Amino acid sequence: MEKYILSLDQGTTSSRAILFNRNGEIVYTAQQEFPQYFPHPGWVEQNANEIWSSILAVIASCLSESGVKASQIAGIGITNQRETVVVWDKETGLPVYNVIVWQSRQTADICEELKKQDLNDVFRRKTGLLIDPYFSGTKVKWILDHVEGAREKAERGELLFGTIDTWLIWKLSGGKAHVTDYTNASRTLMYNIHELKWDEELLDILGVPQSMLPQVRPSSEVYAHTVDYHFFGQNVPIAGAAGDQQAALFGQACYDKGMAKNTYGTGCFMLMNTGDQPVESEHGLITTIAWGLEEGKVQYALEGSIFVAGSAIQWLRDGLRMFKEAKDSEAYATRVESTDGVYMVPAFVGLGSPYWDSDVRGAMFGLTRGTTKEHFIRATLEALAYQTRDVLAAMESDSGIKMKTLKVDGGAVLNNFLMQFQSDILGSVVERPAVHETTALGAASLAGLAVGFWKDIDELRSHMKVERSFEPAMDENTRESLYDGWKKAVHAAMAFK
Ligand code: G3P
Repeated sequence: MEKYILSLDQGTTSSRAILFNRNGEIVYTAQQEFPQYFPHPGWVEQNANEIWSSILAVIASCLSESGVKASQIAGIGITNQRETVVVWDKETGLPVYNVIVWQSRQTADICEELKKQDLNDVFRRKTGLLIDPYFSGTKVKWILDHVEGAREKAERGELLFGTIDTWLIWKLSGGKAHVTDYTNASRTLMYNIHELKWDEELLDILGVPQSMLPQVRPSSEVYAHTVDYHFFGQNVPIAGAAGDQQAALFGQACYDKGMAKNTYGTGCFMLMNTGDQPVESEHGLITTIAWGLEEGKVQYALEGSIFVAGSAIQWLRDGLRMFKEAKDSEAYATRVESTDGVYMVPAFVGLGSPYWDSDVRGAMFGLTRGTTKEHFIRATLEALAYQTRDVLAAMESDSGIKMKTLKVDGGAVLNNFLMQFQSDILGSVVERPAVHETTALGAASLAGLAVGFWKDIDELRSHMKVERSFEPAMDENTRESLYDGWKKAVHAAMAFK
């Protein structure tokens, strides 16, 4: 009987189960959104059990509707929204607090305090990151500080911490495996990316007991098997895990040093493979683990993290009710020739790379009586492309590599206007793959390698096919003057606090 790999993609706003066949093609996709909670301005939370139920629901619909049986699944790969934190009780399996999402700013004060103690360099040197509410470490501290009795329980070894990969593997395995992979560990602000271990000094600073941390494993390995009651009576190997952006880098077949991709999801994340050596950024990027296929051996990446991309389109749809479906944004944007000088800075949760400013908030500039909804929508889409140019410029300066082609993926790449404008504003070719779900493909690939479903990287490389290339068609003067306007808008937004 034909076998498949099941990829579970647990993203910021939805969970998906995607089945891949031996050719790396998608056979079936099931998707479910789950609730988001915004208890205070700037806070973003979720419920770990609602995430878990959404995963069970997509597995069930994938298996019941695709006609593929649970016994035909050769392995499961997991990929997830990164940095997002769950803390739960080891005995009862119940979370002690809501999930604190990567976008949440509720630890801004903790971060300020750490920065005042001049700790940025220590964190940067050891983790490749910087002190910002984005990363997991201060979120764990926040939970231990704010939930009654949590710190005492954690110190007694009764609580477990995990990013979402860890939570899902723990649940799927019936509580047998408390593990994470190198990529997810590298986003926590607690993991030493050079020595490949949890860092005692950083744990001390944050007040996080080591006993609550998962074991860190390679991204491609059988961690555990599903318990039969969660997987239609089958014990299927859970065989790979990686943070979603690293999974996309792997799924885009960026196996070699210097190769990069940009994913347009809730946020927008550009990663460049820097080989077996970490590169320290001088231009506001972070250093992270790209993946580790074997114990003790990892590849590194430089990353530009943009916090708001697809979520700005969602905001136009749900918050401002400007259109019914995200894809309608393309038709609106192309009804006007330009934004007529309107710029939108989508700093809803502060700005990540290369600015790293938690306090800045979103802004619009250049409004006139003639500004229409079309200009507004176009300016929002263009903002995704300008932010990407900021990050690409930083990456080229740090790596010394001029990127002639940018590989893209994620939901918003279906927007042809956005892709053409992206190519125009970068002056580079933008390459869209045939399988847009490269994140899920990456996780499937990692699992498929671990269970021998796919032989090696060369076999995986053959799965990557380009669907369309966008060539720059804008003259240099227009490009540079548009980009100048963006720079002015960002700096004006940062000045307004
Ligand atoms: O670092 C956050 C990132 O992993 C979220 O990804 O796809 O949900 O925007 P996404």
